[in-house]
Amino acid sequence: MTSDRSGPPPGCPAHASRTPLYGPDFTADPTRVYAELRRHGSIAPVEIAPGTPAMLVIGYHTALEVLREPARFPRDPRRWQARVPADCPVLPMMGYRPNALFTDGAVHARVRGAATSALARIDLNNLRSYVEQSADMLIDRFGPAGKADLISEYARILPLMVFNLLFGCPPDLGDRLVEGMSGIFELVEPEKANELLTRTLFDLVALKRAQPGPDMTSWLMEHPADLTDEEMVHQLVTLQAGGTEPEMNLIGNGMRLLLSDDRFAHALSGGSLAIEDAIDEILWTDPPIANYATHYPLSDISLAGTHLPEGEPVVISFTGANTDPSLPFERTGNRAHLAWGAGPHTCPAQMQARLIASVAIEKLLDRLPDMRLAVPVERLTWRPGFFHRGLTALPVEFVPLPAPAPALAEHREVTPPPSWPAETPLPRASSRSRSQHWRSTLMGWWRGQ
Ligand code: HEM
Repeated sequence: MTSDRSGPPPGCPAHASRTPLYGPDFTADPTRVYAELRRHGSIAPVEIAPGTPAMLVIGYHTALEVLREPARFPRDPRRWQARVPADCPVLPMMGYRPNALFTDGAVHARVRGAATSALARIDLNNLRSYVEQSADMLIDRFGPAGKADLISEYARILPLMVFNLLFGCPPDLGDRLVEGMSGIFELVEPEKANELLTRTLFDLVALKRAQPGPDMTSWLMEHPADLTDEEMVHQLVTLQAGGTEPEMNLIGNGMRLLLSDDRFAHALSGGSLAIEDAIDEILWTDPPIANYATHYPLSDISLAGTHLPEGEPVVISFTGANTDPSLPFERTGNRAHLAWGAGPHTCPAQMQARLIASVAIEKLLDRLPDMRLAVPVERLTWRPGFFHRGLTALPVEFVPLPAPAPALAEHREVTPPPSWPAETPLPRASSRSRSQHWRSTLMGWWRGQ
């Protein structure tokens, strides 16, 4: 089941004891795990699921070398995939899909071209206005309570509102999309979640083939790359996953920093420069996608003094690389971090992603300038899974806002959603109930409850 079929070369560090990246220890304190892994150098042997080995790149320059050399480090996972059990929990995140992430060469150029061209058609002024409207609606919703969980009531919902508009996704499909997407990131029944996600996206593609509109799904279809239905679905998975999960984590991690670190205190009184600085700092220290960009060497090779077995995943630790202590340069005021990836697969939506996060944060601080954490920062907990880095909840308090006047509320409901969810309590402890809570919040919003 593993790629170690031919047996390890004697003394090979790749076969030394492997550190698990799954499970609560990593989630509770990834910084400690990255620090311990550095004893191996810039590449460390890890296990990404029980019995599933991988090599984790934690050195900045080694990460760049892998990311920039697709001929030596291709992305197509199918050789590896044939060797792991069908129920391996990381397969929904790492298994082959005919989209930009998992293809190489000409096929990659073709599918990425369709994505970049659809992204380029997004009007940034419209995008800003969608984000502002969505943010206002959510703040109006929880503002009168004087308290909120910024993850379940804001950071998780806002990107979904924005992306469902951009993708022209109707509410009934939106429900299923949200449920599927969350399951594959949180590794909660990932196979079932993946099946739901795929089925729903096929429905969206069928709908847009029949009734195209001014939305990204239709723009992808119109592109001369002439994507098949299957390619469309898998392209949408990457765009939706990229557009929602990491965006939520960038907003959540950014707000955590702004609310807990005295260096950013002036941001709360309206300094947008401080917001940009906080976003940059998060992209260095707690990037929303923590470990991903999976590569599969075509033959046994040696890199940075480490043996990399043929076909075994070489995973880039964006956090590990960004926090590499041997980096000679100053991180403040510097955007050379790897949070957007690098090389041919670098994130094509950096501008849009950054705009959404900074407008979302700016709106919060603008409308609730006295906002503070409702619990000590040390008590905040993180969601399970090593691919991402995001909080389970971010409880805050503030002076309650007056309830919006009915006329204003009506005006704000014109574009995009029809109305607002019913009372949304703070999430409970288990990840299952949390997921159910925010899903029902979003579904309620879509249905006008
Ligand atoms: C905070 C938000 C985001 C972060 C941190 C982020 C980060 C990344 C990273 C690290 C990669 C490279 C992955 C790899 O090399 O395997 C990537 C690729 C990608 N991202 Fe983003 N992303 C974000 C938002 C978005 C958004 C909003 C979209 C589009 C709606 C998007 C679409 C994509 C696509 C299509 C790729 C694959 C490109 C390729 O393989 O050629 N991302 N993103």
